[in-house]
Amino acid sequence: MSLPSKVRIVEVGPRDGLQNEKKPIATATKLELIRRLGTAGLKTIEATAFVSPKWVPQMADHAELFAAIDKLPDVTYPVLTPNMKGFEAALALGAREVAIFGAASESFSQKNINCSIAESLDRFRAIVDAAKAADVKVRGYVSCVLGCPYEGDVAPLAVADVAQALLEMGCYEISLGDTIGVGTPEKTRAMLKAVARRVPLKKLAGHYHDTYGMAAANIYASLQMGIGIFDSSVAGLGGCPYAAGASGNVATEDVVWLLRGLGIDTGIDLDALVDTGTWISKLLKRESASRAAHAILAKRAMQAAQAG
Ligand code: HMG
Ligand code: MG
Repeated sequence: MSLPSKVRIVEVGPRDGLQNEKKPIATATKLELIRRLGTAGLKTIEATAFVSPKWVPQMADHAELFAAIDKLPDVTYPVLTPNMKGFEAALALGAREVAIFGAASESFSQKNINCSIAESLDRFRAIVDAAKAADVKVRGYVSCVLGCPYEGDVAPLAVADVAQALLEMGCYEISLGDTIGVGTPEKTRAMLKAVARRVPLKKLAGHYHDTYGMAAANIYASLQMGIGIFDSSVAGLGGCPYAAGASGNVATEDVVWLLRGLGIDTGIDLDALVDTGTWISKLLKRESASRAAHAILAKRAMQAAQAG
């Protein structure tokens, strides 16, 4: 199959990227990150999670943050909503898109959202029904599609079952999460093949964490299968609080570099994105996980030295 001519990137840095940070991050810093990402050309920026502050303290400012975003007219700012309480709070603040998040593994579902997969699907159905009535779009996530931190291997059919259930209840898109980044291209292909028998390829997104450095390879394998939507996180920020040791998502800078090399335009200003990744990494006192950002910064420094 030929590669998709267009790819949509869903920037998840402000949510997936920051949710696991131990030290509190000021709401103003998060807002500035969201603003810079919008300026760099990201059209979908997952802003926060309307989850319990007891479970994920870093997202406790969700309401204050979401209300204060200076929303650009052509940018969507989805938020995570695990239950009706989260959905109603997000709706009251004018959210136009929410995401529900299930898992292909029972243990992860219990650890992450304190219920079984079946119970989670019942909860989600209520959210989707309420969202439909309010004309709010719903994205569905499936976690642990290539492995679970508690159960190990996850069967592709288990992923397909949950993805199909999310589609049938009314999610417009299903994001397939390699939560702990254990996937390799052949495993990714096998999983996608199983899911694509139940969910149209154009409704699937790849959400790959980069724990073993395989995320870009898995994106390439997914592109070859016709997937045209990928989630990523500026500077590769992040990790999941309920998946110990998992690193952040693939860095958005690296995805843009990969796609650019394939002749696929994303409309994203890579230089502005590198600046944003450098800024937030400094602020969090960490190295950016983006290889492309490091290379671009080194090239800039060399050019400046030559010029000066
Ligand atoms: P629970 O303890 O069963 O919920 O947690 P509960 O209904 O019994 O409520 C417990 C307390 O939380 C109550 O407060 C509620 O009011 C409050 P109390 O009465 O004790 O003071 N509460 C809430 N507060 C604010 N907003 C809410 C909310 N709901 C309840 N929406 C629950 C169940 C789902 C709430 C909890 O497990 C939770 O919040 N989990 C979220 C975990 C999470 O955010 N994980 C990370 C995101 S998933 C991820 O990263 C994977 C992904 O990136 C894809 C991939 O990588 O694979 C998406
Ligand atoms: Mg994730």
